[in-house]
Amino acid sequence: MGSLVLKDLAIHYDRQVVVEDFNLAIGEGEMAALLGPSGAGKTTILKAVAGLLAPTRGDILIDGRAVNTLPPEKRDVVMVFQKPLLFPFMNVAQNIAFGLKMRGDGSERRRTAVSRILELTRLEGLGGRKVHALSGGQQQRVALARALVLEPAVLLMDEPLSNLDANLRQEMRELILSIQSELKITTLFVTHDQSEALMMAQRLALLLGGRLRQAGTPQDLFHRPADPEVARFFGGGNFFKGRLQGGVFECALGRLPVSAASGNGHVRTATIRPEDIQLTLDAAGRPGGLAGRVVRTRFEGTATRAWIECDVHEVMVLTAAGELTLGQEVRLHFPPEKIRVFPEDKASE
Ligand SMILES: Nc1ncnc2c1ncn2[C@@H]1O[C@H](COP(=O)(O)OP(=O)(O)O)[C@@H](O)[C@H]1O
Ligand SMILES: [Mg+2]
Repeated sequence: MGSLVLKDLAIHYDRQVVVEDFNLAIGEGEMAALLGPSGAGKTTILKAVAGLLAPTRGDILIDGRAVNTLPPEKRDVVMVFQKPLLFPFMNVAQNIAFGLKMRGDGSERRRTAVSRILELTRLEGLGGRKVHALSGGQQQRVALARALVLEPAVLLMDEPLSNLDANLRQEMRELILSIQSELKITTLFVTHDQSEALMMAQRLALLLGGRLRQAGTPQDLFHRPADPEVARFFGGGNFFKGRLQGGVFECALGRLPVSAASGNGHVRTATIRPEDIQLTLDAAGRPGGLAGRVVRTRFEGTATRAWIECDVHEVMVLTAAGELTLGQEVRLHFPPEKIRVFPEDKASE
């Protein structure tokens, strides 16, 4: 068990800057997720922590000790990859025990550890199975078991579920969460999938273009994004330029009461998530709000996404209000506490 601190990390490939000014602290026993689109530099950061490549600058600290110059096997870090990468000529139990054997653990000790991990990863009874006779999900569980059995100070997982189908992925997420909360291994879980990151992480870091954009709780990033780009990454929509004046945001949509406190008089961008806008069908039923007309809809199962033309502005709404028809007159209500006014708007000042 150990804390992991990445301090002012910079990583270059030849002359290409891939990661810059990266700082992240993960507490002992914590489950953190590193989220970012493909090419953001996620794998690069994991490789640096694992010791598979050397950072250009910065420090990697495990339990407060700099490990930059230690070889991978001395770091007490284990990495699980997207592909299980199992030894094909060994059975499941031998695959799991391999690391323990390399470390010099005796056979009795290996047997106890392997049988406990088989149970934990729900692979009981499969110890003697050849790995090619396993399903994709089982293979990934063996890869996970092989890492867990070493009880590393830090566990790194690089998009471990992206090769699995949707139902299996959900099951594996639950399994990883329950094992992690039982073993309390400090874990850095990498994914490009925002909903996966939100559900898995106690602490979440968003990486865009090799730079940390925001770190915090999943709720912080989802409900309190630092800037419009972070909001957009989490499926936000509806960005309005305007001016904050005494608790009211004045923009092209009109005067929207907000609960934002700072930034009076300055040009700001405000946003509201599509599901936070309340849509009512009957104008007489609930007074106030903004009148608009449905111009486009998309059925998404549990909700319908609708684009509402309000005067010159189009507003995107996610609603469970029933079926909408094109041209239908609706009203939109913007709860003040759901409108986020970004603290800075450099482009317009
Ligand atoms: N061995 C390498 N040599 C040069 N560039 C690389 C190498 N590996 C990755 N890159 C580049 O570094 C960037 C980040 O890659 P990577 O860390 O794999 O991103 P992610 O895991 O977030 O998809 C990409 O632009 C990629 O093309
Ligand atoms: Mg990657």
